[in-house]
Amino acid sequence: MNLTLRIWRQKNASDPGRIVEYPMSEVNPDMSFLEMLDVLNEQLIARGEDPVAFDSDCREGICGMCSLMINGVAHGGFRGTATCQLHMRHFEDGQTITIEPWRAKAFPIIKDLVVNRLAFDRIIEAGGFVSVNTGGTPDGNAIPVPKVASDQSMDAAACIGCGACVAACKNASAMLFVAAKVSHLGLLPQGQPERQRRALNMVRQMDAEGFGNCTVTGSCEAVCPKEIRLEFIARMNRDYGRAVLAAKE
Ligand code: SF4
Ligand code: FES
Repeated sequence: MNLTLRIWRQKNASDPGRIVEYPMSEVNPDMSFLEMLDVLNEQLIARGEDPVAFDSDCREGICGMCSLMINGVAHGGFRGTATCQLHMRHFEDGQTITIEPWRAKAFPIIKDLVVNRLAFDRIIEAGGFVSVNTGGTPDGNAIPVPKVASDQSMDAAACIGCGACVAACKNASAMLFVAAKVSHLGLLPQGQPERQRRALNMVRQMDAEGFGNCTVTGSCEAVCPKEIRLEFIARMNRDYGRAVLAAKE
């Protein structure tokens, strides 16, 4: 395949950045999107040019590191597919592909296609945990978990924290990510003691980080590689509402 790549190049956070065009020839259709960028980088290094900086780790749709806007769509627009799982056979020979970083105030660009997603870590630190007393290993079945609750919790826990939901949202809202993290613990018996405090603290941290509000456009759900559902946002809002009322009592 022959392609024209239009890639956002930005030396550092203060550089204004610009799109640079790179022609690519003989791209193997069975390459993953990131392997195609690896090949481009080998060519750039061979020519003595600066390779394109982009994030990746597992390359199996697990870690949430890959984060590219491909032709204006987070992760490229293939349902339930992270950038690292996307293959070049989904593109047309001769196609022009525009590759940009996530764009959101709370995700400042570090270099080229790499953004700083520490805001997500700080939201998790604010409440995305269950406190336990240390001691002997508890029996696995000591706390029975209803099957429906464990299934729903597992669905929410599938969130890999990639940030595509923020990048896709016109408000740069992080509600789908936070709702997944609040819900996967709040659905389990082990998560009940801190349930309200968790929702309150994580939502407050989300607001403090500069993410926008949710106006329920559904663009987050459409691009989420783990198909996290909007209903988790409604669930988190209920927990948050109860927590606000309880704090006033
Ligand atoms: S909700 Fe989906 S899009 Fe958002 S961070 Fe989690 S996995 Fe990524
Ligand atoms: S590199 Fe890990 S999810 Fe894509």
